[in-house]
Amino acid sequence: MSNISIKSPADIEGMRIAGRLGSEVLDYITPFVKVGVTTGELDRLCHEYMVNVQGTIPAPLNYCPPGYTPYPKAICTSVNDVICHGIPGDKVLKDGDMVNLDITVIKDGYHGDNSRMFLVGKPSILAKRLSEVTYECMWLGIAQVKPGAHLGDIGHVIQQHAEKNGYSVVREFCGHGIGKVFHEEPQVLHYGRPGTLERLEAGMIFTIEPMINAGRREIKEMGDGWTIKTKDKKPSAQWEHTILVTETGYEVLTVSAGSPPPPAFITEASQAVTA
Ligand code: MF3
Ligand code: CO
Ligand code: CO
Repeated sequence: MSNISIKSPADIEGMRIAGRLGSEVLDYITPFVKVGVTTGELDRLCHEYMVNVQGTIPAPLNYCPPGYTPYPKAICTSVNDVICHGIPGDKVLKDGDMVNLDITVIKDGYHGDNSRMFLVGKPSILAKRLSEVTYECMWLGIAQVKPGAHLGDIGHVIQQHAEKNGYSVVREFCGHGIGKVFHEEPQVLHYGRPGTLERLEAGMIFTIEPMINAGRREIKEMGDGWTIKTKDKKPSAQWEHTILVTETGYEVLTVSAGSPPPPAFITEASQAVTA
């Protein structure tokens, strides 16, 4: 018996709006992610855009799950060996860095949660490949989503693709149900076995946000109470979307004009269905 909420039509419409706005913050910040900018400046720009242009609230600011201290900034900026929850500050982005910007907005009480990777300056082959494989992992997971599928199906395809490419999957953090609450049931693991865990039903909304490490999967917590790094200091990548389970499959809620296109295996599959 699972406690995963089924969203009402009104909730779903609210989540579509929040999702689009969350994605539009990433569109807005993209041209600013350049060599020489600080993560603190990216946070300041996003925060102003959310509050003054969109009329949204940055969900991370002062967010305080049990056992944590209040998160001090509006967004998360996770550079290179930072897996997630990097706190913006005076860190200057340099040529070859890779950075994840994770944005969660609240609009009319609804949360839109998404993140993208940005390759700064001239990317290394490793950085480019790690980001691309992680993006494919996210989309392989998304493509599993339909009524009757199991959460384990999502984790399984993500883990398979990451490990086939010589990478590892972070275990300590996962995707999550989302709605009027930032993090709710279910936990969406990015590893697992097909046919296990909860069955999906139309109206469920959750994130898929794999954290994939170039090296080993072990993590290290920093003393600031938030920042999570790889233990082996090798880079880590992450992409995130908020997904609705529909009667026939899935709808990505965190989409906007600037959303990167899905991988070819997604667009080819949907063309095969509609052809
Ligand atoms: N946006 C993150 C997620 O995808 C959560 C960040 S919590 C924060 O779940 F407090 F660090 F912002
Ligand atoms: Co999330
Ligand atoms: Co997020």
